[in-house]
Amino acid sequence: MARKISFLNYKGGVGKTSLIINTAAALAKMGKRVLLFDFDTQSNASIWLLKLDRWNKINASGEGAIYSIFEPGKAQVKDLVIKDVLEGKSGEKLLPGLDLVPTTFNLVDLENEYNGDPKRPPFLVFYEQVQPLEAQYDFILFDCPPNILRASQCGVFTSNEIYVPANPDALSLIGFTLLTEKLHKFHQLSASFRRAAMGLPAQVHGIIFNSIKQGVDIEVPKMRMQLRLNQFKTAKRAAPSAKIFNTQIRDAMVVRRAVALGLPVSLVSAEAIETGASGDNVINDYRKLASELVQHVPAAT
Ligand SMILES: Nc1ncnc2c1ncn2[C@@H]1O[C@H](COP(=O)(O)OP(=O)(O)OP(=O)(O)O)[C@@H](O)[C@H]1O
Ligand SMILES: [Mg+2]
Repeated sequence: MARKISFLNYKGGVGKTSLIINTAAALAKMGKRVLLFDFDTQSNASIWLLKLDRWNKINASGEGAIYSIFEPGKAQVKDLVIKDVLEGKSGEKLLPGLDLVPTTFNLVDLENEYNGDPKRPPFLVFYEQVQPLEAQYDFILFDCPPNILRASQCGVFTSNEIYVPANPDALSLIGFTLLTEKLHKFHQLSASFRRAAMGLPAQVHGIIFNSIKQGVDIEVPKMRMQLRLNQFKTAKRAAPSAKIFNTQIRDAMVVRRAVALGLPVSLVSAEAIETGASGDNVINDYRKLASELVQHVPAAT
């Protein structure tokens, strides 16, 4: 069965989308079967992986986007999966094993106009439709906005693990703290909808430092984050095995450039990638991160 994972922080712009896409690509390259859900109405992950032309068609019609499962009878999650989403100019598949369920801007309607049956909140509708897909994947990943509103709740409720991308600054620490509080509230609110077969409600299992500039010492922010994590573990608000990942992702221009190219960095041509004095580069960081994630299996699953 798939491991189901959300990347989440209450601080925006920390690198949730960049991390999830590049980690998903690294996992697919390792031969893992990966399904990525985009739950951020900004649609960054969808536009990145589909490129603008393919995504525009979905946005214009609304057909094929995640919101369509919440308009009763319109679509099922299984019909929205775009298999091997990455394509080259002539439609050739670039990375078999990486599938996407895209979003478009209409996902924002889930927060405002949606008027479904309160006994069947969106996160439950979503969970029930994802469940039959679990056996087909090793990893199901959810890219979430920096909140736990209805769209994010779908990812959080369905996941069993949360990883928190963070920058080495005070705002990321505040974002993590806020996330843990909101997560606790959401679990209380959604407890009556959980069944044993769903596994444990998602807790924070790891913190991943991202966008680290060369030569910058992050020991102090790391220590502060570790202290906060320890407090949450003691209070049972984070998983017992939660840790700061050994792998950190360097700040690299190619990560920003990869978005415009519509590719994960591992598929960007080698010349475009800054390589450090040791011959190491950011692709290796994502590869190491993916391996560390594969190793970091929660005790209860
Ligand atoms: N390792 C990195 N090196 C350089 N730039 C990076 C790196 N990671 C992320 N970025 C850049 O930082 C910006 C924010 O990243 P990203 O969109 O992944 O964050 P996010 O947390 O998903 O944001 P949001 O909260 O809006 O969803 C983007 O311009 C992205 O290209
Ligand atoms: Mg994002």
